[in-house]
Amino acid sequence: MKCFSSFFKKRNATPARRPDQSNVELDEDVSSIQNIKMYTYKELRVATEGFSPDNKVGEGGFGSVYKGTLKDGTLVAIKVLSSESRQGVREFLNEIKVIADIEHDNLVKLYGCCVDGKHRILVYGYLENNSLAQTLLGGGHSSIQFNWHARREICVGIAKGLAYLHEEVQPHIVHRDIKASNVLLDRYLKPKISDFGLAKLFPPNMTHVSTRVAGTAGYLAPEYAIRGHLNRKADVYSFGVLVTEIVSGRSNTNRKLPAEERYLLEKAWKLHERGELAQLADASLDGDCDVEEVCKYLKVGLLCTQDMPKLRPTMTTVVKMLTGEIDVNAEKISRPGLLSEFMGIKVDLGHTSTADKPNIGDTSDSAGTARLCNTSDSSGDITTSYATMTFNSIYDRSN
Ligand SMILES: Nc1ncnc2c1ncn2[C@@H]1O[C@H](COP(=O)(O)OP(=O)(O)OP(=O)(O)O)[C@@H](O)[C@H]1O
Ligand SMILES: [Mg+2]
Repeated sequence: MKCFSSFFKKRNATPARRPDQSNVELDEDVSSIQNIKMYTYKELRVATEGFSPDNKVGEGGFGSVYKGTLKDGTLVAIKVLSSESRQGVREFLNEIKVIADIEHDNLVKLYGCCVDGKHRILVYGYLENNSLAQTLLGGGHSSIQFNWHARREICVGIAKGLAYLHEEVQPHIVHRDIKASNVLLDRYLKPKISDFGLAKLFPPNMTHVSTRVAGTAGYLAPEYAIRGHLNRKADVYSFGVLVTEIVSGRSNTNRKLPAEERYLLEKAWKLHERGELAQLADASLDGDCDVEEVCKYLKVGLLCTQDMPKLRPTMTTVVKMLTGEIDVNAEKISRPGLLSEFMGIKVDLGHTSTADKPNIGDTSDSAGTARLCNTSDSSGDITTSYATMTFNSIYDRSN
C-alpha cells in the first residue's frame, strides 16, 4: 500500500513514458489528492480471491462490487469501475476527492483506491447488512425485520448524513443520487450513505449549475430532471421519497399495482388530503408503531417533495422535524412535484444502471427515449444532460 504522493512522484519520475493528454490529466488530478491509501491491483485481487463471482455482492452503474478481506483481516467493499462505463477516470477521481476527507457516522468510509494501469477501483468499509433496496424494499428476500424503531433511526441517520454533506462540509456537497440502494446498513442497522461518485463539490455561489443530470428516476426532483437545476433541495426531494419508502416498506414505483396505487408519492398525497396518511404505514409493522409518529414522518416526506424547491425544508430542519424539535403539524404542505405530471407522461421509474442511461427531457422519440434540454456548465460549454432513467412505455396511457 502506498499513498498518492509517492505514487505521483513515481509516475513523474519515469522518463521513458511519453504522457498523452489523459495521462497528463490523470497526473494533475492525482497530484491534488493526498492522504488516501493506494492499493495495488494485486493486493485487491488477492483480497477478493481473484475477483471471484462468489465474492461479488452487487453491481451498479459504475461496475461490480466485491467483498474482500485485506491482508490485515479488514473486510472491505471493492468497487471495480467497469471499463465500458461512461464514467471515466475523471469521475472516479472526483469521487475520491469529494469523500477523501469526509468522515461521519452516517456516511460510508472510503479506505482508499487503486489506479493501476487501466484499473480504477474504490475500496470502502464493508457494510454487513447490504442496502435498504435489497433488505427493506427487496420484496421479502431479507430476513431482517425492520420494526418502527429501526425505521425511525434509519430515517434520522440518513437525514443527519445528508445534513452534514449539505451544511457542514465546505464547500457544500449535493449528493445527487440519494436512493435506497445508496443507503447501506451496518450490523446494527445504522444507515450509511454511499456513492459519492455522482456528487460534486458545490461552490456556494453556484446554486443552479448542473453540467449533467445524475440520479435515479423516481427519486429525481422535477426541476432537476427536467431543467437540470441542481441544488441541495434536489437531494431533499430524493430524501422525501426515501423516507416515504422506508415508512411504507415499498418502492416509489410499482407497476404491478393498479394505476392509482403505482406511484407512492401520488398515493401519499391523496391519503394526506383525505387525512388518512396512517394507511400508508407498512402492513408488516402489524400496527406495532406510534401512528402519530408514522404520520409525522410521512408529512416530512411530503414537505421534502413539495413541487417548489424553496418550500422544501433544509436537511437540518428535517432532522429537527424527525426528532421532534420542530412541530411538523404546524407546517402547511403543498402538493408534491411529480415528474410524470410535469412531463405530461407516465414514466417507468424503475432502476436502470448508469451505464445505459438515455437522455431525457422535454421531447421524446418513438423509441421511448426523451431528451433533456441541454444545459451549460460553468465554462459556458453546452453539455448534454442525462438522468439514470428509462422511459419504457413512455406513453403509458393505461391511466
Ligand atoms: N460498502 C459496501 N458494503 C457492502 N455492500 C456494498 C457496499 N457498497 C456497495 N455494496 C453493494 O453493492 C451493490 C452495488 O452498489 P453500487 O453502488 O455499485 O450500485 P447501486 O447503488 O445499486 O446502483 P448505482 O450504480 O445506480 O448507484 C449495492 O446495492 C450493495 O448491495
Ligand atoms: Mg450505489
